[in-house]
Amino acid sequence: MIERTGVVEPGASAFAAPDFAEVAAAAAQLDPRAALETGDHPAGRAATALALFRATGLPTEEIVAAATELAARRAPRLHTFVPLYTTNHCDSECKMCGMRRSNTGMLRRFSGKREIEEQLRILLEHEGVRGVGFLTGEYADPYTRLANAFRIGWAIRRAFDMGFDRVYYNIGSMTEEEIAVLGEWITPEQPVTMCVFQETYDRATYNRFMGGDGAPKADYDRRMSSFDRWIDAGFRYVNPGALIGLHDVEVELVALVAHAEHLAARGAVVDMSIPRLRPALASSNKTKVDDETYLRLIASIAVACPDYRIVLTNRESRAFRDRVIDLCGVISPGSPDVAPYRRSDAIVNDENSSQFLVAELSRPSVILSGITSTGRRVASFDEPVAGLAGQRP
Ligand code: SAH
Ligand code: TRP
Ligand code: SF4
Repeated sequence: MIERTGVVEPGASAFAAPDFAEVAAAAAQLDPRAALETGDHPAGRAATALALFRATGLPTEEIVAAATELAARRAPRLHTFVPLYTTNHCDSECKMCGMRRSNTGMLRRFSGKREIEEQLRILLEHEGVRGVGFLTGEYADPYTRLANAFRIGWAIRRAFDMGFDRVYYNIGSMTEEEIAVLGEWITPEQPVTMCVFQETYDRATYNRFMGGDGAPKADYDRRMSSFDRWIDAGFRYVNPGALIGLHDVEVELVALVAHAEHLAARGAVVDMSIPRLRPALASSNKTKVDDETYLRLIASIAVACPDYRIVLTNRESRAFRDRVIDLCGVISPGSPDVAPYRRSDAIVNDENSSQFLVAELSRPSVILSGITSTGRRVASFDEPVAGLAGQRP
């Protein structure tokens, strides 16, 4: 079933992750092959995804094949946005992130109006993309948080006025008042996606990574409930996520899928992010989930959630992306450095000013053309023509 049947229930209670053991017990009762064939999920999507992920004797290739077939029914098959980090200042202390406040080696930068507009023009004219995602750190005091919401609201509005047709924003948790300040710049019909990755749904692990003293991101519940406030305010586009490598993948799979299902039941349009941890300045980030496990995770989620789009970024190498591109609904190439796009040179991902280091640092248009050249369509991307794009590496 691909149709979304949820209805908006304003004021519905915030999400709480289900008990893992209960979902695991339900998953144990399911026939994973039946889930592949019918696409039904009688015990909920989280149980279906876990049953597929755990099924011994069910090769990952079969899950991948089923997910590919389901994803091909979606239109458009893929769309894109390019991230634009508008600053690397941050008041939080996430251990895996180069932008954390105590990281004195980080060269702090901030883009004003001119630089943001210039980056947007480069994306439109030289990269051929009409999807953008604005990012910042997360701030502590109420005034800075509101000023940040106002500034990003301005940037979103400016992007639409310049010709973008899809905007994401990823600036940490959002209170009701902050949503109101950002929301004044847009209308609920515009495709503006709130991204607030929970990173890990396990509270103890969350506290270990995000729980720095006085860190605004340390508030697990304020983060988790941000989407419900966004939906309460009348907006529909959401992007939850889990950072793979912080905690047990089965636990994250169950909680993330249940969270997405909760949001969809409230009428939201859901994208899901499951980025894998990358190296970052002065961070250890050693835990690496291996390719085969990660592929199976993506495929299991894709089968259980064919109507939510999985976001794929160039945190992953070209070789790995080629294995999962047909399971994903969003391809998002770019750099987590501040204002990193250039008219003619390569894009920038300097360890000393970036959140982390990507696996493949190609220009967005090069990554996206690689996909369209294989016959796949990518909405919000038109390959830039040579004359307009100028010199391209
Ligand atoms: N300051 C905002 C913006 C997050 S940036 C916030 O914290 O919400 C988007 C995402 O990048 C984060 O939510 C996290 O999932 C991911 N990320 C952080 N550090 C990373 C790393 N070292 N490798 C890969 N992804 C990382
Ligand atoms: N971290 C954000 C996300 O995953 C921003 C992002 C999107 C990003 N695409 C990227 C960061 C590519 C680095 C490279 O949504
Ligand atoms: Fe700041 Fe976000 Fe990095 Fe945490 S993940 S330190 S909130 S930029």
